[in-house]
Amino acid sequence: MIELRNVTLKYGERVILDKVSLTVRDNTIKAVLGPSGVGKSTVIKLMLGLIKPNGGGQVFVDGVDITPLKEADLYPIRRKMGIVFQGNALFDSMTISQNMSFFLRENLRLPDDEIERRVTEQIHFAGLEGYEDQLPESLSGGMKKRVAIGRALIFNPKTILFDEPTAGLDPVSSRKILNLIASLKKSNDLGAVFVTHIIDDVFAIADEVAVLYQGKIIFDGPTEQLHESEHPFIRSILSDKILEL
Ligand SMILES: Nc1ncnc2c1ncn2[C@@H]1O[C@H](COP(=O)(O)OP(=O)(O)OP(=O)(O)O)[C@@H](O)[C@H]1O
Ligand SMILES: [Mg+2]
Repeated sequence: MIELRNVTLKYGERVILDKVSLTVRDNTIKAVLGPSGVGKSTVIKLMLGLIKPNGGGQVFVDGVDITPLKEADLYPIRRKMGIVFQGNALFDSMTISQNMSFFLRENLRLPDDEIERRVTEQIHFAGLEGYEDQLPESLSGGMKKRVAIGRALIFNPKTILFDEPTAGLDPVSSRKILNLIASLKKSNDLGAVFVTHIIDDVFAIADEVAVLYQGKIIFDGPTEQLHESEHPFIRSILSDKILEL
């Protein structure tokens, strides 16, 4: 569904990703694990076409090479993917319902009753009944994350992209969000890619994991095979559990 093929990405002279190849298959939960500042958010931005490989390589979405596409041609491509940002990126002055419907209203010309139907569906899925008319500030971190997930799902994407879905959440809320991501695969036939620096999140729900370290993918395969890697960095994170800076 989404593929980075030999992607090299530089910021100025600094090479962040060095010929990185990575595939996210349909109906699969793929984790991209890596330490802080390694280029995880950059991977997400490349998948959405928000930035382009500037040192060579291609990005494919559903078999289409999106690297040469102009902004206007990227919109229908992006609609196949839902995105949940690290800080959620909710609109502070809008209610939960308005947050969920905003992009739907702006981008698709759907009738009001269809918008309302989809918002109700997501409110229910996210377990936010009774909070429809509240502002985000009155919600806990885990609830805000669920609003952001609902807002991403409302377009019926094929794949959902998460940037550090559990960052800043307490263990119980983290667990709930991870369960929610896992349930999307089962109930909605959705694929997901999430980038994280927390190895426990990977073992909790990822079918496959790619490990990004110093610009390279040093492991890519089924999560249960990670233990078999002999790469020193992977050995060290398996013993320390949480990645260090
Ligand atoms: N627009 C930019 N211009 C220059 N450097 C950038 C830019 N965006 C990111 N960087 C640098 O590129 C590197 C990778 O950034 P990126 O945000 O992808 O990392 P990350 O793995 O998501 O980090 P974090 O764990 O902090 O979220 C970082 O060192 C960052 O400082
Ligand atoms: Mg990041």
